[in-house]
Amino acid sequence: MEAKSIIAPLLRWYARHKRDLPWRHGVSPYRVWLSEIMLQQTTVQAVIPYFLKFTEKYPDVRALAAAPLEDVMRDWAGLGYYSRARNLHACAKAVAASGSVFPDDLKSLPGIGDYTAGAIRAIAYGQKASVVDGNVDRVISRLFAIETPLPASKPEIRAIAERIYLSDANTDPSGLPQAFMDLGATICTPQNPKCVSCPLTGVCMAKAQNLHNELPRRASKKARPKRVGWVYWVENRGQVLIHRRPASGLLGGMAGLPTSDWNLEPEYPPHAAGFTAVADTGASVRHVFTHFELTLRIVRARVKIPAEGYYWGDPNEAGMPSLFKKVAKTIT
Ligand code: ADE
Repeated sequence: MEAKSIIAPLLRWYARHKRDLPWRHGVSPYRVWLSEIMLQQTTVQAVIPYFLKFTEKYPDVRALAAAPLEDVMRDWAGLGYYSRARNLHACAKAVAASGSVFPDDLKSLPGIGDYTAGAIRAIAYGQKASVVDGNVDRVISRLFAIETPLPASKPEIRAIAERIYLSDANTDPSGLPQAFMDLGATICTPQNPKCVSCPLTGVCMAKAQNLHNELPRRASKKARPKRVGWVYWVENRGQVLIHRRPASGLLGGMAGLPTSDWNLEPEYPPHAAGFTAVADTGASVRHVFTHFELTLRIVRARVKIPAEGYYWGDPNEAGMPSLFKKVAKTIT
């Protein structure tokens, strides 16, 4: 299939139907970079309020670099995948240190890989670059009726994407990746694609073979292992004990409630680090991480002297990830 027969109708469609998203106004490398980091593994709807908050509080890369890491982590709380926030801050510092200009070698920066580098080059600088996210995987799998399941089909998808993005027919390097993404998000959706409204329905090989609901195929996923542990609710004069988690590891650098280790088997009695168990509430919270599912049972506890890294605070003001906010909600 010729690149032009995809690009021309797709760009015409995008001109009429593109979504009005905040990072599409006042486009700059900083705003594109920030939005693309936020949008990894996260929906547009979840990202919008965070993007607005960040761009208001940190209007440019210098402001973000100058902020304490703890503030940035707190402002990121609830968005998930917290290593992104640490890398975001490290990247801002690196860019600010070299004149607040993003370098040509974008991939030398913390947290910027192939995808983000391509997205910044294309969307912010209007350079022809191959930009492939989950939406593009799906659209191309269908357009070319790729029967190989994901993720094994990724090299084939990438080769096709590159041919399209780098072709002479790509008259709008900034718009084209965004057009693919909007098509994937609004028309070529994972379930029940709206082929009647699709500008590419006439050239779509999956549609021609009535495979648009079957593709892309996916290798069956392994079940996530389950881990369990205790989360300690320790009250003192209207405040609760909060733990600044170590920088490395899951939820690294975030403020959280104290927990036991997260193991495959529950440990009892639930004390660690000087906690005295007062009462098992019987209630628990659950959170799905990428590689496992976590259930933490809530226990009211006491502590004599908080260890290093622990402090008393307001659980609603601490900037905790959703997992711990759920605990506060469950118990209060
Ligand atoms: N998902 C990731 N990046 C996006 C963008 N620039 N526009 C819309 N959806 C996206």
